[in-house]
Order: sequence, then C-alpha cells, then structure tokens
Amino acid sequence: MTGTESAATRIDTTRPHPARVYDWFLGGKDNYPVDEELGRRITAIDQGALRAARANRAFMQRAARAVAEDGIRQFLDIGTGIPTEPNLHQIAQSVAPDSRVVYVDNDPIVLAHASALLRGTPEGVTQYVQADARDPRSILEQAARVLDLDRPVALSLIALLHFVADEDGAHEVVSTLVDALAPGSRLVLSMMTADFERENVERGIAAYAAGGVTLVARSRDEVAAFFRGLDLLEPGVVSVADWRPAGTPDDRGPVSLYGAVGAKSVRG
Ligand SMILES: C[S@@+](CC[C@H](N)C(=O)[O-])C[C@H]1O[C@@H](n2cnc3c(N)ncnc32)[C@H](O)[C@@H]1O
Repeated sequence: MTGTESAATRIDTTRPHPARVYDWFLGGKDNYPVDEELGRRITAIDQGALRAARANRAFMQRAARAVAEDGIRQFLDIGTGIPTEPNLHQIAQSVAPDSRVVYVDNDPIVLAHASALLRGTPEGVTQYVQADARDPRSILEQAARVLDLDRPVALSLIALLHFVADEDGAHEVVSTLVDALAPGSRLVLSMMTADFERENVERGIAAYAAGGVTLVARSRDEVAAFFRGLDLLEPGVVSVADWRPAGTPDDRGPVSLYGAVGAKSVRG
C-alpha cells in the first residue's frame, strides 16, 4: 500500500467482492481469480446464475429507458457496479442528452473504473460518489450538489438490496431516500429471491457466505413492501426477465431476481 492509498481505495484481491463476481458473470475482465473461483462455484450449483445476472443487467437497461421516456431527467443510482456498456447514463442521455446522473458504490474497484461512468454528453452531467448505501443521508447530501431534489429523480438500487439485510436497515435506507425525493420520482429495485429455485439459491447463498459475502433472498411480498406508499407501475413485482420483456421468448421466464418500478404520487 502506498502512502496515498486509503482503506476506501485499496482493492483487496484476497477475497471475492460482489461487484467483481457480478462482472465475471457478465463476461467482464475487471475481476480477480478469487472472484472467478466463486463465480464458477455458484454456476456449478446454479446453472441459472449466469442468465440471472444478464437478465438483471437487461432489466436495468429497460427500466432506465422506461423512466427516461416517462420524462425523468435526474438519476441517482446506488450500487452501480463496474461499468458495462451501455451504462445507465448512456441510456438516459440517449433519450434526453441533458440527463443528470449520480452514481454511488462503496467498492474501490468501481471507483478505479469510474472514469468510464463519467463520459457523458456535453449537455448532461455524470458524477461518481464513493459511499455506502447504509448511509443514505450522506448520499443525499452529496447527490444534492448535482441533482435538484425538488424535481423528480429516478432512484435505482439494482441488485443491491440483497447485500443489505432488514436488520441492517434495508427498509430505512429506502424510506430515507424516497422521503427526500419530489413527487413524480421513481423507485427502481431488483433483488434476489428464492421463490423460484429455493434449493439452488440457498446453496448459492451458502457459497457466497463461505467467500465472506452475506446475501439475503426475499419473497415477492417482501420485495413489494419496499414500495409501500408508492404506485407500482405495470407489471408490478415480477422476475426481472419478465419486466416489460423486449428480447426473444427464450429470454423470458423466472430468474432468481425480482424487479419492479414504483412512482411517488403527484397527488397530494
Ligand atoms: C451485483 S452488483 C449490481 C450492479 C448494477 N447495479 C447492476 O445491477 O447491473 C451490486 C453492486 O452493489 C455494490 N454494493 C454492495 N453493497 C453496497 C453498499 N452497502 N453500498 C454501496 N454499494 C454497495 C457492490 O459493490 C456492487 O457494485
């Protein structure tokens, strides 16, 4: 470690990290042998894991496009991950070049690759904030330097909340963030479930735990509870592969992540 490195920027290659394992699932190059080893162990247990990761990334793209096409021009994406094109800002700015995007992650590997997240349109803004989702007030404070919180924001926590247990404040994180947003804002979530393939998912969770990563799977009702007080947009809480599907019929059908989008009511 050099004198300028801190714990926040040090990349630990001795144990797997969620962002890097997910990068391996997506066919990326920004991962280390420990991440690949865990990815291979998970895919040996659960053949559907690769498809689930890709379906989740595709959900992010469709949901970002849908909210941008609804007229949302500000985005706060927490748990962004290692850049994989198209990234959220590229989708938002392809709909409206003046879109403003704040990315947040707590993994130093994402910080190391953040420059790819900052190459946006000249009309728009992209910003990267290194922060922990479990500190939503600090995120809001930093996001407010780029986003006008009096206007609608699309808040996305995609494949993030399964790393935050209810006991660790998952609901308080979401409600603190949503409460700070203006009417008309959107909440975009996806997270792991064991509803479709309980045994494989439980074995996968055990493999992650052996690698030092704690994961929580939630039922459909538990996912829906994050949207309390919001209007759930069609088609509600469904497998990410079935949320407004755009691919071939082969791409559809349950994968072990639920996805949904809600809107903060503009009615009083
Ligand atoms: C599976 S990746 C998802 C990436 C991207 N959102 C997507 O769905 O394509 C989860 C990301 O959440 C990040 N993450 C996990 N726990 C976090 C926390 N407490 N605060 C901020 N980011 C976190 C990880 O570093 C990782 O980049």
